[in-house]
Amino acid sequence: ARAALGRRNLVFVGLMGAGKSAIGRMVAGQLGLPFVDTDMEIERVSRMTISELFAAYGEDEFRALETRVIKRLLKSGPRVVSTGGGAFINERTRKQIERGGISLWLNADLDVLWERVNKRDHRPLLKTENPKKTLEDLMQKRYPIYALADITVLSRDVRKEVIANEVLAAII
Ligand code: S3P
Repeated sequence: ARAALGRRNLVFVGLMGAGKSAIGRMVAGQLGLPFVDTDMEIERVSRMTISELFAAYGEDEFRALETRVIKRLLKSGPRVVSTGGGAFINERTRKQIERGGISLWLNADLDVLWERVNKRDHRPLLKTENPKKTLEDLMQKRYPIYALADITVLSRDVRKEVIANEVLAAII
């Protein structure tokens, strides 16, 4: 699988809770490539949490920063990169991802996503009256766009090793 990637990055896209970071990290280990999570990188360079960034500057500024961070990360690959859920939805960022790597959508259904995100409160987009409905709306809006990714892997409620193996099989 590593040979099939060549010098390209492997970029995980998909909604929050799909497992991009957990599975991305595992796949990176198996490929012997460095792993980076774009949200963590954004938090590192801005010295703020994602929630603080949203609150202080708003979503548009966050997207602009996200684009810059991703562009830089993809330039110095190959790496396995997990992106924030909105990155691939933003046209500019999507073009960068398409240019800089193979995109892989972790497609999960609502119950799987909800199970994983409802325990945590660090997602600013889900601070709404009815976060499950918000998640469902995001699925409706975004799934046609995630479907543009080079590869799709179903992220089901099984051990992450199983999904990681499916990812490796898919990129050969
Ligand atoms: C977002 C997803 C988050 C984070 C930000 C916005 C989104 O990343 O980038 O809260 O627009 O879906 P995760 O997908 O890693 O939770």
